Amino acid sequence: MRSNYTYKIVKLGGSVITFKDRPMSIRYDVVRYLASELAYFLSGYPDTRLVLIHGGGSFGHPVVHECLETRGEIDVECFSKTSYTMMSLNTYLIKELNDVGIKSVSIPPHTIFRREVGRLTYESDLIRKYLMRGLTPVLYGDVILSNGSFEVISGDTIAWLLAKDLSVGELIFVTDVDGLFDKDPKKYADAKLIDFIHASSLAELTFSTNEYDVTGSMGLKLVEGLKYDVRGVKVRVVNGLIRGNLYKSLVGGSTVGTVVEY
Ligand SMILES: Nc1ncnc2c1ncn2[C@@H]1O[C@H](COP(=O)(O)OP(=O)(O)O)[C@@H](O)[C@H]1O
Ligand SMILES: [Mg+2]
Repeated sequence: MRSNYTYKIVKLGGSVITFKDRPMSIRYDVVRYLASELAYFLSGYPDTRLVLIHGGGSFGHPVVHECLETRGEIDVECFSKTSYTMMSLNTYLIKELNDVGIKSVSIPPHTIFRREVGRLTYESDLIRKYLMRGLTPVLYGDVILSNGSFEVISGDTIAWLLAKDLSVGELIFVTDVDGLFDKDPKKYADAKLIDFIHASSLAELTFSTNEYDVTGSMGLKLVEGLKYDVRGVKVRVVNGLIRGNLYKSLVGGSTVGTVVEY
């Protein structure tokens, strides 16, 4: 996007803003300090504009998981339930963001994204216009129209598409582990944290998924950038469960988490 501003995308993982193992439970304290860190950053860096995206955590995932399990697909009822559930999580976040002075606007993805004849499209112009007018757009993992049926679009996918289309310099994934490891740190005690890696070397690492997550975890998150052929973006993976990390990663220069160069 051409203007005098620097754009960054921050994706708040569902694993950070909710307790993934407890249905519909928000980590209120974490959401509060993450919102404050974003506000503090924006006040010190008025030339930077943010787009925020959040995941589904214990809101979206269990609803979709149950639908797939019992009906084998996302039907009309499931679509309605999932979009409602995600919107309620989103509404809470918007309130917290507004409370700390971030002039945010919710852009429910089911209203602008769709898949037609295999092609995922969306109204990126709307996001641009809100940004230009000084608002902080907030999107999230959601359900969308897909050809004759429905599908899930993850917050990660949205983050990549926007990173590419808005030509942002940095994309920060805020998650529940210290960064990218050579293997899943939740499964292997000897997993080693990687400070820096080029995206072309991601294939050398080991990733694992959990059955709860309907959109894949760290592996898919980072490999998607290659799939969408995103280039020239500095991606950071940072642990949002540690206070101050998000601010540090936004400011840059410090060695918190992992940097993945695309
Ligand atoms: N090599 C790896 N490095 C870091 N995390 C990994 C790796 N492989 C799997 N993971 C898992 O990915 C999870 C983060 O993905 P996810 O649960 O989808 O988070 P989010 O809610 O932020 O999208 C971590 O909690 C971790 O258990
Ligand atoms: Mg995820």
